[in-house]
Amino acid sequence: MPFSIGIVGAGQFAGSFAKLFRLHPGVSDVHVTDLLPERAERLVAAEGLAGTVSSFEELLGTDVDAVALFTQRWTHGPLAVRALRAGKHVYSAVPMAVSYEECADIVEAVKETGLTYMMGETSHYNPATVYARERIADGGFGRLFYAEGDYVHDMDLGFYDAYRYSGGERWKETASYPPLLYPTHSIGGVLGAWRTHATSVSALGVPDERGDGVFDRETSRFGNDLSNATALFEVAGGGSFRTNEFRRVGYPSHIRESRFRFFGTEGSFEQLATVSFWQDRSGVRDVSEHLKAAPSLAADDPSLAEVSPALRDAFVSGTAPVHDRARLPREFAHAPNGHEGSHHFLADDFVTAVNDGSTPTVNAWVAARYTLPGIVAHDSALRGGERLPVPDFGDAPG
Ligand SMILES: NC(=O)c1ccc[n+]([C@@H]2O[C@H](COP(=O)([O-])OP(=O)(O)OC[C@H]3O[C@@H](n4cnc5c(N)ncnc54)[C@H](O)[C@@H]3O)[C@@H](O)[C@H]2O)c1
Repeated sequence: MPFSIGIVGAGQFAGSFAKLFRLHPGVSDVHVTDLLPERAERLVAAEGLAGTVSSFEELLGTDVDAVALFTQRWTHGPLAVRALRAGKHVYSAVPMAVSYEECADIVEAVKETGLTYMMGETSHYNPATVYARERIADGGFGRLFYAEGDYVHDMDLGFYDAYRYSGGERWKETASYPPLLYPTHSIGGVLGAWRTHATSVSALGVPDERGDGVFDRETSRFGNDLSNATALFEVAGGGSFRTNEFRRVGYPSHIRESRFRFFGTEGSFEQLATVSFWQDRSGVRDVSEHLKAAPSLAADDPSLAEVSPALRDAFVSGTAPVHDRARLPREFAHAPNGHEGSHHFLADDFVTAVNDGSTPTVNAWVAARYTLPGIVAHDSALRGGERLPVPDFGDAPG
């Protein structure tokens, strides 16, 4: 039975998913609310949606079946719990939350209500992650023992504009959001392929030196002055992975912002901005084309009006040959995609899970495994790299 969705937050990212939810045959109506009502109105008009609702609170009082959170990154935890407790299924943009307690509250609320919760981690469907998942399944790696995931996105490549749009006059207070509290694009790409979880972490951060008042502890709502950070995680079953969360880096993040490497006893995979290689003892195979996302939209498409120009590359990439589109609804065939082809799969995962009553791939338990290690890593970085245990909520029940 098609169900209705209320989008919360009509900023830069919501547009792509509003369109996909509207197109999906498993969804009936799509409503929108934003603290800035004109943004909600613009999105409704642009995508031909059902209408606006005046607030999140009012939305929870309607008979809408699900909410999709596209609010600022530090806000998701409490909103998700309130929505679940009000009887709504929840789709949440990343990250799941910003503290252990918030993650635990979501897991508890999902357990008690039996409702669907899904975190829309784009790296879960990153072509490199999809490829590594396949090679793990066919045994190509032998025993996987080490991986690396980077989310390398320089502040000068779109983030200043994005934070201004997001934070208004006081944007500097939140542009300092700690890199390790946005850990899911790097961790989710590693653990989206390697079915394990982090058990401990040691992390180091680099205090910012730009001096423009952004990563400034006095100004920062998060008391944060770290703009680059590196974390080394121990994983269950043996082995480790390393992530980089860089916000001051001379690197073309508009070409590829999330990149991965996986090392096993029989094979390995390595990726840079423009190339991807499979390797074993006999040699190197260039798999770059297999993992290359084709554009799904022109960068000047009117639907990208809310997106800062420097961020648009990420919002226009379609699927790669490695993606199997067979399960996607035909209504998505010519729909805009984004983040290396992941948007279509995420939207479909959520709609299918709600309609079937099945557990989505990035459910609350998996979302916690993609998010919580970064929260603990940030603590470790603040303690000079002290190795800290990473709590785990286990596998999703059932
Ligand atoms: N690759 C990815 O997965 C990816 C990419 C981009 C953004 N994101 C995530 O998407 C989310 C949204 O990002 P964005 O760039 O669109 O942010 P944004 O700041 O442009 O938009 C957020 C909107 O939410 C609204 N809002 C905040 N609290 C609200 C509330 N309680 N009720 C109603 N509206 C509320 C704001 O007014 C704003 O318009 C963020 O969490 C970000 O981390 C993920």
